[in-house]
Formats: sequence, C-alpha cells, structure tokens
Amino acid sequence: MSVHTELKKITTETLRKMKFDKVKITMLTAYDFTTAKMVDAGGVDSILIGDSAANVMAGFDTTLPITLDQMIYHTQCVVRGVERALIVADLPFGTYQSNSEKALESAVRMMKEGGAHAIKIEGGIEIEKSIRKIVNAGIPVMGHLGLTPQSIYQFGTYKVRAKEDAEAEKLMSDAKLLEELGCFALVLEKIPADLAKKVSESISIPTIGIGAGPDCDGQVLVYHDMVGMNKGFSPKFLRRYLDLYTEITGAVSQYVKDVKNADFPNQNESY
Ligand code: KIV
Repeated sequence: MSVHTELKKITTETLRKMKFDKVKITMLTAYDFTTAKMVDAGGVDSILIGDSAANVMAGFDTTLPITLDQMIYHTQCVVRGVERALIVADLPFGTYQSNSEKALESAVRMMKEGGAHAIKIEGGIEIEKSIRKIVNAGIPVMGHLGLTPQSIYQFGTYKVRAKEDAEAEKLMSDAKLLEELGCFALVLEKIPADLAKKVSESISIPTIGIGAGPDCDGQVLVYHDMVGMNKGFSPKFLRRYLDLYTEITGAVSQYVKDVKNADFPNQNESY
C-alpha cells in the first residue's frame, strides 16, 4: 500500500488566510538551489529571493548594484529547489521606479524567466503607478516600507525608520495605499514595534516584519544572518540560530591540516 501525502503549496491566498486565522507567517531568503531546498524542507511558508543577494552573495556594500538578469538567475536556481513555499523575488533598484511600463516589463521577466510566484518592490505613493500596472497584469505584488535599502543614499544610514510622527504617518498612509492597490502582503523593515502593530491592525493584508517587533503577521530574516554566516553583522533584531561561520572555517582549517599532513585521503577514501 502506498501512502499518498499531498503537498499543500503555499499561495498568496494561504497567507491572507493565515492572517485571518492569526497563524504567524514565516519567510526566509534564499538565492541558490541547495539552500532553497533546505529552507523549503524546514517548512517556511515563503522564500524571498531578496536583492540582499547583492550583499551576501556578491559582497557589495548596498543592494543597488544587482541587476535584473542576476536576480532572475538567482530566482531560477531557487525555483528548482522549492516544492511548497511561496516564492517571492525582489525587483532590483532601477527596474520599476522610473515608469510603470518598465516596471511591468521587469515584473513580467521575473515571472516568465525567473519563475517567481510574486514580486516585491520598495516604496509607497512614489511607485503607485508601477504597483497598479503590475497588479493589473495579474502579478502578485508584495510591498516593502520602513527601511527600504534601495534608498540608502537618500536615508544616509541603516538606522530605525519612522520614529518621528511625520514619517510614521506617511508610512501608515502608504500601507493603506498598498492594500488599496491590491498588494497581497507588506514587508515592514526596521520600524518601532508599536508602529508595526498599529499598521498590522489597520490593514487586512499580512505584514511581514524584519526588525519590526512581534506583532507583525509574520517574520522574515536573511538566511545568511540567521544561520550565522555573517560574523560582522549583528543588529539588535537578529536572532542567530547557528554559528556557521565558526563551524565552516573550523571544518576548512581541519581539511587543510589533514591534506598537509597527508592524512586525507586515507586508504578507505581511495580507489
Ligand atoms: O532583500 C532582502 O533580503 C529583503 C529582506 C530583508 C526583507 O528585502
């Protein structure tokens, strides 16, 4: 007798229902096949091919340099490793802000060539036309407010956003606008927990927080940070579940010793 277990794929509708049912949503980044397979097997609801790939995969200081072609490549790799999670891909800097036609073209490429299930873009009212155009084409859009790293040269720092009333009010009004425009979810990055709670209670679409406190409808972290591969990056909001930097450098230095001492390979490891 074979046991048939149906794998229930996560959709944008699943996330909407999770918010309604008060079930927390989990999201992690991934940028390659092998990692995506492990992250999916670990049971996250959604995988983000973040433009943080520019930092953790390519070693840039900001997310700005990564191109649409590079993001599409990372997305293709992730898609091949995922069976269950909803796959969301970032549109990189410069591919959606200037005009809505270009935004739609970028989103279509990400869906068609990358194989993403949805795209994420940063900003509120400034990108209203782009969001409208993409949503009208039937492409699910995840918004991103608060600390939006593609605007780092405008902000000047990676400090907590929206601590002042005026910025908090704009963020709240942007969140309502994104809901109205048909975004299916919204990332809130590095804002006060109280504000994130208020936003989450004021809109019907799920909020996914990173450095935005416990009252968001879900949480997202960058995979390399949560498994401790980034020694030098320790923001307050980050919980490290492993210390892979130490584990991996330890394993590599043991390998180097074994080869130098002619201990590897041994008889059992030879043909
Ligand atoms: O690029 C990214 O990884 C992100 C998350 C931090 C939300 O946008």
